[in-house]
Amino acid sequence: MNGARYAQITGWGMYVPEKVLTNEDLSHIVDTTDEWIVTMTGIRERRVVGDKESTATLAIRSARAALLVAGIAASEIDLIIVATITPEYLFPATASVVQDAIGATRAGAFDLAAGCSGFIYALTMANAYVRGGADHVLVIGAETLSRILDWTDRNTCVLFGDGAGAVVVSASAERSGVLASQLGSDGSGAELLYVPAGGSRVPTTHETISSGGHFARMNGREVFRFATTIMPQAVEAVVGDAGWQKADIDLVIPHQANRRIIESATKRLNLPPDKFFVNVDRYGNTSAASIPIALCEAIAAGRVKQGDKLVLVGFGAGLSWAAAALEWGAALPVKPQPWLRRLAVSIWFPLAAVRSFWRRTARHVYNWILGPVGKDDWRGRLRDRADRIGERSKPSSGPPGPKE
Ligand code: ACO
Repeated sequence: MNGARYAQITGWGMYVPEKVLTNEDLSHIVDTTDEWIVTMTGIRERRVVGDKESTATLAIRSARAALLVAGIAASEIDLIIVATITPEYLFPATASVVQDAIGATRAGAFDLAAGCSGFIYALTMANAYVRGGADHVLVIGAETLSRILDWTDRNTCVLFGDGAGAVVVSASAERSGVLASQLGSDGSGAELLYVPAGGSRVPTTHETISSGGHFARMNGREVFRFATTIMPQAVEAVVGDAGWQKADIDLVIPHQANRRIIESATKRLNLPPDKFFVNVDRYGNTSAASIPIALCEAIAAGRVKQGDKLVLVGFGAGLSWAAAALEWGAALPVKPQPWLRRLAVSIWFPLAAVRSFWRRTARHVYNWILGPVGKDDWRGRLRDRADRIGERSKPSSGPPGPKE
């Protein structure tokens, strides 16, 4: 592609666990009521993972859906970024688990931790990478917050949910896609929303486990104050960077933390409420997954059209905030991909499972053959023989070695 490159969203997909946890259900777990939760947050229900689900399983399902919409085989992806604060492991990156599962054989992969701002941070990285020459980047926001909640703490456990959303960001010559973004951080508020233990500062001990140090802690009031101030500021800044007026905005897709925070931003920005997409009532706060899930639902509800000017805005742990201005480039409703293309994309997923199995098995066999062996073990004798053959085949006249 010659000339200017733009980074357009060409595929999108979401996945939420089947299990629904309503406010009524929660009122049997902690001292709360449906009325309190709805009035204070707007949340009515959220999804929570089952025993066999994890951040990676949700991410993989959303990624497959996004690839099918884009008509891009996983092997064509250059980079995978998973925005999450509930990764599969401390390391390796959840993105590497996703890379293996979908068969993204050419892709680099890393995780990005920027709390609920994570998806927009990742989208901004994808935009830069695509503008720098990559063809396709897969950006995923995926969380299993239910795994780090203290289910006896009514201040936090009613707020969060699990889910994943993914987008494929592809190079385009058309002036559309991500036109501007704003990233921000104020680490002086790190302890306002955090998991105190399990990192290098407070390593895991019996004491950290018994004191609940591995659960999310939050100063709700402070986060609320921060969110209601920063959201309108971030929207105004990114709209200015994109060269738009506020009135040009067709739809704002805000981080879904609390309906009252979104309403406050609506008022401060002096925009009509119907310009804000809200689905916090059904999923609660899914952190880095909330914006891509809301984007998918906005598209499905017919709230996004080609040429629309969208603003994504998020805030969260860090403290961090981020906003992106996007001109929607993909045609909607989506035209189904030709069947051959669909087949080429979907056949990659079972092949990826076979490839992964083969690579794991080959590694086990290799390690078994080359692993420690006893002197009389046939593998030891085989290896000795191979070593002797190797010695014999070395050139006899080489450079002189050091004298004893
Ligand atoms: N049910 C019933 N009562 C409750 C509950 C509950 N689930 N939770 C708290 N209360 C009580 C408190 O105990 C308190 O009672 P008291 O007055 O007798 O002490 C009262 O309600 C008020 O509590 P506050 O915490 O002061 O209430 P506040 O008005 O701040 O609202 C809320 C709480 C909804 C959490 C609000 O602070 C908020 O939305 N904050 C932002 C949270 C947020 O967005 N976090 C995510 C950031 S994104 C990320 O990176 C993950």
